[in-house]
Amino acid sequence: MRLVLLGAPGSGKGTQAQRMQARHGVPQVSTGDLLREAVAAGTPLGRAAKAVMDAGQLVDDATMLGIIRERLARPDAARGYILDGFPRTIPQADGLEALLGEIGQPLDAVVLFDVDPVVLEKRLAGRRTCRRCGRVFHVESNPPRPGDRCVDGGPHDLFQRPDDNVETVRQRLGVYCERTQPLVDYYARKGLLRHIDADGSLEEVDARLEAAIRR
Ligand code: AP5
Repeated sequence: MRLVLLGAPGSGKGTQAQRMQARHGVPQVSTGDLLREAVAAGTPLGRAAKAVMDAGQLVDDATMLGIIRERLARPDAARGYILDGFPRTIPQADGLEALLGEIGQPLDAVVLFDVDPVVLEKRLAGRRTCRRCGRVFHVESNPPRPGDRCVDGGPHDLFQRPDDNVETVRQRLGVYCERTQPLVDYYARKGLLRHIDADGSLEEVDARLEAAIRR
């Protein structure tokens, strides 16, 4: 299974990628998570990316392609992967196609998550992430359940992403419209695009996603 999950910030790509990873045993490859790990580790990449991410802008295409090339070469990606947050621009999509052509692993499908912008803002305002295991929650729609434990057996250690403030969210939604939305036509022309209505319960969206990749 080699999938791209495409959609605006807050459309549920990361949440569904984590659920698919658990169901299908193929890794979620989230470029946002890879960048946040680099920021937390204080690497040169992380130091350069932090300001860009905090401003709601995109890290440059050459850097992102380098990150993806390295990540897809790891052994756990040999059986497939779920790309979450990549590609985000036409040059990234061209670069990905060239890379997958080189290694003889074309994409199976690109799934577009459709969600109303008002819902997106509410989702991002209430998002919380566990610092230790990386699981994504929402204060209202998807809080940790009573008794839900993190990998170390303790409670989840939730934090709010610094780019989830109102101003940066609006900036990210604008960048999505301008730089990422053209990928919808790009992948439709290649016959890879599947749309799903990503507004609904987690289970409903799960079922739509599974049906879309079987189409
Ligand atoms: P990234 O981390 O990729 O952020 P994003 O694309 O903006 O997407 P999000 O993580 O905000 O949303 P999501 O769709 O995963 O939603 P989620 O499942 O969390 O990127 C961050 C930054 O890194 C970028 O701004 C950029 O600077 C940089 N970057 C990353 N990749 C890059 C690239 N390729 N090129 C250049 N720069 C790059 O859900 C959101 C909330 O909604 C959660 O609280 C969740 O619990 C809740 N929720 C999910 N589904 C449902 C549902 N069905 N019902 C109710 N609530 C739901």
